[in-house]
Amino acid sequence: MHCEKQKRVITMTEKEKYALEWNNSAQYFYDHNSYKHLVAHISKFKTVLEIGCGTGQSTLALLEAGHSVIAIDQNAFCIEKAKQLIKASGYSVIENIGDLAPKTVFFIESDITNPSFERDVLPNIFPDVVICWNIGSYWDKAKINDAVPKMIEYGLSREQIAENTESSYGELIFWRTCVIAKVKQCAVHLVDRGMQKITKFNDPYYSFLKRELGFSKIKYANMKATTLSKGGRQLISNGQVNTQNEMPIIFISILMT
Ligand SMILES: C[S@@+](CC[C@H](N)C(=O)[O-])C[C@H]1O[C@@H](n2cnc3c(N)ncnc32)[C@H](O)[C@@H]1O
Repeated sequence: MHCEKQKRVITMTEKEKYALEWNNSAQYFYDHNSYKHLVAHISKFKTVLEIGCGTGQSTLALLEAGHSVIAIDQNAFCIEKAKQLIKASGYSVIENIGDLAPKTVFFIESDITNPSFERDVLPNIFPDVVICWNIGSYWDKAKINDAVPKMIEYGLSREQIAENTESSYGELIFWRTCVIAKVKQCAVHLVDRGMQKITKFNDPYYSFLKRELGFSKIKYANMKATTLSKGGRQLISNGQVNTQNEMPIIFISILMT
């Protein structure tokens, strides 16, 4: 009698899939020195609060430049990958925020749009700059149900959200990041990926943030780069991850003090 092997179906959650795919995209940016160039814009700030650290390649670049880093992400799979990368690269992941020192990182798993972040995390951290680079998220039903009311509360209409959920979410997170910087009375550095350069002459949005939140200065910088991903996802052609087609992009850097 043959013993039929039971087929085990391995299902991956959207969160897990996101971590795997972003890891590839971020490694590409790291290998092409993109993070190194972004880090240069915040060199004068010692302690960095990194919102949405992803799989840690950006965090690693911050540590390599000598910063103390408090790295936050809502996705436990991303944090796990980030910790592995940082340790494998010879840097210390500390367990107690009181031990934070240059070239060390303290990870926090938290969603910055949840009240618990403001209540439990924010009072205990003291950054010199808050950064939010390349924001994006996994999307499943639960995430949409959670995020849409927050985007509406922020001021977007259902139509705007339906038209482009990813960029609507990005707007919400950038706004929250700026609010956090204001609460902590420090600078903020936002980085987005776009197709065209943004300067003070065609700024669609950041100058409103500056005015609304009362920052006194805004500095624009644009950096040409290439990517293998679009919207945080790897490009897939014919069912295969596409590692051939590099696409030109621009990293838009906005520093507000
Ligand atoms: C596209 S990745 C960018 C990672 C990193 N900043 C970089 O440039 O490589 C965006 C990360 O932000 C995280 N994120 C999105 N929304 C968040 C939130 N509300 N709170 C905390 N992290 C969030 C996601 O889980 C994801 O890991």
